[in-house]
Amino acid sequence: MAETDLGKTIDRALADLREAFLPRFRAAATEQALRDENAKILGKKGELTAILKQLGQAAPASRKAIGEKVNSLKQEVETGFESCLSDLKRKAREAELSAPAFDLTLPGRMPIPRGHEHPVSIVREDVVAIFRQLGFAVFDGPEIEHEENNFTHLGFPPDHPATDMQDSFWTTSGKLLRTHTSNIQIRALSTIEPPMAFIAPGTVYRRDDDATHSPMFHQIEAFLVDRSVTFAHLKGILAEFAERLYGPGTPVRLRPSYFPFVEPGAEVDIGCVFCKGASGVRVGCNLCKHTGWIEILGCGMIHPVVFENCFKDRGIDPEKWSGFALGMGLERIAMLRYGIPNIKLLFENDPRFLAQF
Ligand code: DAH
Repeated sequence: MAETDLGKTIDRALADLREAFLPRFRAAATEQALRDENAKILGKKGELTAILKQLGQAAPASRKAIGEKVNSLKQEVETGFESCLSDLKRKAREAELSAPAFDLTLPGRMPIPRGHEHPVSIVREDVVAIFRQLGFAVFDGPEIEHEENNFTHLGFPPDHPATDMQDSFWTTSGKLLRTHTSNIQIRALSTIEPPMAFIAPGTVYRRDDDATHSPMFHQIEAFLVDRSVTFAHLKGILAEFAERLYGPGTPVRLRPSYFPFVEPGAEVDIGCVFCKGASGVRVGCNLCKHTGWIEILGCGMIHPVVFENCFKDRGIDPEKWSGFALGMGLERIAMLRYGIPNIKLLFENDPRFLAQF
């Protein structure tokens, strides 16, 4: 194309665009539509940009004049865009202001889902409430514990398997994550004057992981120290506790067992809460393994060596005091109460699971 022709073509294209751009901008009903239209003209592949690209082919003498025309149109387009944009924004604002009032505080149409208490928390609160009614006070203690409070003063021999690296989580400074809430017995007995009756809910840790064990779980310890406490007191508290937690008439039985910090020690079973001990031809159900009984806790009379360890440097005569202690796993109690088959369900916190309680 001859250069003069090119100049004319460009001129015509510029004139066409000058006429067209404002009506195009005004036709845009939304900010996005306006921006899109603007990009079609001024963008990298825009119409004006395309014209500008032809400039290189124009005669050097006329380039400057054409360039100026392109630039001045570019400015007109930019100004036009800005003014249309502020028009659009103003109109939107006016529409907003003249619209009917909108009450932000009205409740939504969909019901708001509510959180649920975790089954372990429910059970913990229930157990704590029962013991408080029976006169026990809550005693709290740390989860990172000295070996003495977790093991030694409770009468664990130094080579007891629980003290092994394989069974417990030790810190580099020689402390450990407490493996049970029995550490609270030591903490209370070494700091408080007897008599006393405490309950201690808390988190405990062991290297254990399967369908019924989790490396982190929860226990409640209860203990009572006074003059002339007997096994009968312990049994009375246990019977009362079982009835209040699982309902009137819940039978309790004790089996002799061993724990280093009690003598005698026992494990406590309640009559199976699912089958009540009898169903059909065979006694029991799967949950009580067809025995009709379910184990819920360990207990016993506090071992003299525990009194000795905690009282000897404090001028308290260990001979004058006796007491009982008991400890239970809260996950186990919750699993039994709600028929939960796998302990992992208690830690995954799936709302569909939690919403059932
Ligand atoms: N500390 C024991 C455990 O974690 C539970 C226990 C058993 C606590 C007997 C007691 C008790 O107070 O007397 O397995």
